[in-house]
Order: sequence, then structure tokens, then C-alpha cells
Amino acid sequence: MESTLRAPSIDPGAYLSADTLEEELHRIWPSAWHLLALTRDLPNDKDYLRKRVARTDLVLHRLGERIIAYANVCPHRFSTLVDQPSGNAPLQCPYHLWSFDTDGYPSAVPHRQGIPLAEFTQGARLSTWQVALVGEFIFVSKQPIQSCEDYLGALGADLARMSRALGNELPPVTLDVAANWKIIAQNTVELQHAYSVHPGTFAALSSKPMRIDSDLPLANSISYVMRLKPERFEGRLNARLKSLLSRVEQPFPDGYRHHLIFPATTLGYVDNRMLTIIDYQPLTAGACRMSARMFEFVVPDLSPLEASILASIRPLDHQFSLQVFEEDGGICEAVQRGLHNRPADMPGVLMPVEHMVARFQDMYQQWMDYK
Ligand code: FES
Ligand SMILES: [Fe+2]
Repeated sequence: MESTLRAPSIDPGAYLSADTLEEELHRIWPSAWHLLALTRDLPNDKDYLRKRVARTDLVLHRLGERIIAYANVCPHRFSTLVDQPSGNAPLQCPYHLWSFDTDGYPSAVPHRQGIPLAEFTQGARLSTWQVALVGEFIFVSKQPIQSCEDYLGALGADLARMSRALGNELPPVTLDVAANWKIIAQNTVELQHAYSVHPGTFAALSSKPMRIDSDLPLANSISYVMRLKPERFEGRLNARLKSLLSRVEQPFPDGYRHHLIFPATTLGYVDNRMLTIIDYQPLTAGACRMSARMFEFVVPDLSPLEASILASIRPLDHQFSLQVFEEDGGICEAVQRGLHNRPADMPGVLMPVEHMVARFQDMYQQWMDYK
């Protein structure tokens, strides 16, 4: 680890600039892999789900055994293909009833007056995205520069295992945050703000002095474990919880585990109780839509007493997460407002303890420089 202060590698103007966002949406978003949904969201043949990836209104559609992804626009004369956020329907345009196959080519075209289907090729094809399944997680990419497997590296196996341990979903949360996506992403890989921003949530849980174990050597993600106080509940409850949560099959059961998957997805969980998946899609240079989904982990062989212990704690976990979202959203907006007031000769500075922020910035620069 470096032992001196360093200058940020992201120019502070990049948090305010609409041109920079255009560059990011050109250089990063189409080539990255984005975690969009779970296979359980599309359990039946013809189920579909709309998801936004930056400016693209994307449809995930299960057709038989396959899940495909395509931009929500017909290649004939540009009708929207589906209007509902989710549903069950064949892949057919409502305007002139063209149907499409799983590669996005027209498979049925009414009124074609003998023109062979084979002629409806490139210009008449849906704008399809690549789909990769990692356990239950559905990742998409428009033009990946590497396979999803290579993109995730060693994290892939953890994610697959984690996805298989997920149980019930809690109510999702969507929050618009008036801050640049990079500010929010960097905030998630810096824990020193726990004491100032999260005094009643994270700081109350963390061991003192704060201990953070990072940093799996992964190409496109940043991972850490924040050690938590060993005794977080009263004695007997603590012991019971520990023993029942130890039955969840997870790679890092002790502490707060966090993964940032570049560019703007995070997964985090405390102990083995609840997984939170958060996605930050940029709306403008100064605004993001934060979508959070929360899942309980399945604990095998729960006794009725253990089930009631978990049921009593889960609302607290949910409430904890909502409060953390609010606290983080608030401080990121304060950074965005501060940036508007920044004199040109104030470049910012990173301390050694902010090495994961530095790592995010270096990762970002590599993506932006990549031709
Ligand atoms: S616009 Fe879709 S079939 Fe014509
Ligand atoms: Fe935070």
C-alpha cells in the first residue's frame, strides 16, 4: 500500500460534465457486464421484464430454455415492443405483428408478399444484448470486450453460490440521488465515513478499531469484508443467531461483505442474513437512479424457534438498509453540491486508507482510455 497522499486520477470536473457522461455511456456501459435480474424473475416461458441500463430500455424475455435481452424497439418502424414493466407475451411487435426468433431475426412477417424471410436480416434485426447466467443472476452486455466469466474472475463462483442461497425477497426500494454515479460508487468502497455518516447504523456495528479486509485481486470489481463487533445482540440471542446463520452456505459469513462490480452495481450483506443488490444507473451527469433489491438467505432445517428469531430480526435488517441508503444518498448529494462550488485550483486528495477509492479511479481510467 502507498504511504503518502496522492492526487485523484479522476478529474473533479468529470463529476459534473455532460460530455464525460456521454463518453462513459460510449466507452464503459456497452462493454461492461451489468447484473440486471434473477432467473426467478422470469420463471415461465414467454415471461418478460423491462430494465433500464443507462438510457436503454431493455427487455429480458424467457423464450423456452433461453433468456434473451433486446432494446425495446421494433426494427421495422420503431414501435415499442412491450409497454408493461413485466408480463407474459410472445416476442411480437404490436404494430404490424412481426415476430422474432431468439437471435432477434424476424420469424414471421405478415403481408410480405412472397419476399423470403431470409431477406429480413441485418437491417430488420432486434438490437440484442448478450446474456450470461451466473447461478441465478442474469448479466447482460451489449458489446462485451471479454466473457462474463472473465469479467467477474474469481467472484463468479461466489456469486453463483450466493444466488443459490437466496430466499424471500423483501420490498424493493428505488431512490433518485442527485449525485454523479462515480461519487456513489466510490462512497461504497470507503468505510471511514461510517463514523460520521452512519453513526447509528454501520458505526454501531463495526469493531473498534475498524478492521477491513480487502481486496481480492479482481479485474472489474472491488471486494472487502468489514469486521463487525462479535456480540451484536444480547448473549443468548447472539449465540443462537450465530449457530443458525452458520448453516447458510456462504464464503464469508462473518462481518459486512461488499462487492462493487464495475461500473455501478454493489452487493452487500451483514453476516448471512440479507443480501442487498444495488444498481446505480446514471440519469444525467448529476443524477442517478438507485434501485435496491433485498433477499433473505435460506437457512436450512430451521426449527420453529429459530424461524421466529429470524422473523423478529428481519424487519430490523430491512430498516437498517433503508436508513443506510438515505444516509449515503444524502452525503453523496452534499459532495455533488460541493463540486459546483469547487475552485479550479482544488484538485482533491486521497489518503492511503482510501486505497479502494484509488483503485476505483484507476479502474475507471483504464476503461476510459481503452480503445
Ligand atoms: S413497427 Fe413493429 S412490426 Fe411494424
Ligand atoms: Fe456509506
